[in-house]
Amino acid sequence: MSLFTVDALLCKGDGRCCQVCPVGIIAMDSKGYPVAVAGAEERCINCGHCVAVCPHGALSLKSMAASDCALLPQGWNLTPPQVELFLKGRRSIRLFKKDIVERAIIERVIDAARYAPSGTNRQPVRWVVVHDTAKVRQIARETIEWMRSLIVEKSSMAESLRFDYLVSGWDAGRDFICRGAPHLVLLYGLKDDMIAPGSCMLAGEYFELAALPHGLGTCWAGYATMALNKWPAAAGIVNISSKCACFAGFLVGYPQNGYARIPLRNEPRITWR
Ligand SMILES: Cc1cc2nc3c(=O)[nH]c(=O)nc-3n(C[C@H](O)[C@H](O)[C@H](O)COP(=O)(O)O)c2cc1C
Repeated sequence: MSLFTVDALLCKGDGRCCQVCPVGIIAMDSKGYPVAVAGAEERCINCGHCVAVCPHGALSLKSMAASDCALLPQGWNLTPPQVELFLKGRRSIRLFKKDIVERAIIERVIDAARYAPSGTNRQPVRWVVVHDTAKVRQIARETIEWMRSLIVEKSSMAESLRFDYLVSGWDAGRDFICRGAPHLVLLYGLKDDMIAPGSCMLAGEYFELAALPHGLGTCWAGYATMALNKWPAAAGIVNISSKCACFAGFLVGYPQNGYARIPLRNEPRITWR
């Protein structure tokens, strides 16, 4: 089967598929139908833009039938004020109820997050959901042990990130690492894949945003993520392959409080040329 098929009855020869292809592997033939250029198979990144742009459903990729791609409803976009409020209204949540989040809800949020952009559409992100709250607590504990070891070594990271406060907080019964969250969601990829870190971080932020309408609270779990990459006792709890690294992690649960206002942020530093 060729890279893509075109239904001649549906194709209007408008060339949209050819125009949007990011790697330029679709040309229009003399009859006005899209055809694959030489070497198209190996250059195609399977982004599906050629399928998605056609309003007639005329083109299907070998890997992606038009009939399997959901139709976008008319006027599906949000208004600028809605988006601005949504983005500015999100807060990092650090106080969680004890309630468990159903797996189906987390799966649904991840399903939306997998639509985040990724370099050359490689989609290198892999997910671990630490659903077991006891394991989340164990990861927090091991993160503290990692911090203690760095304090003993007098590492500059321990000094600059003030690990001493985090450790003494833990010893006094306060978890500044996983904040008592019931769940931890981790995004990881191959260590030697230069696309993986950025793709994981982007998918992670999509995850945070997609979690909001479900009434979930999330917070980047930066300390725990660092420990998972550096401290074998922490890594062993989630058992990620040694060829991989964790590039983003999030505390997840139902928030104890909502927020009443949008806090101030720095003015954007923009240069126009
Ligand atoms: C890469 C990254 C790592 C972070 N790690 C932590 C963390 O370990 N613990 C924490 O409480 N917050 C963490 N945060 C959350 C930031 O502190 C938070 O985004 C910032 O204070 C702004 O607050 P807001 O998200 O509510 O706007 C992290 C954020 C990012 C982007």
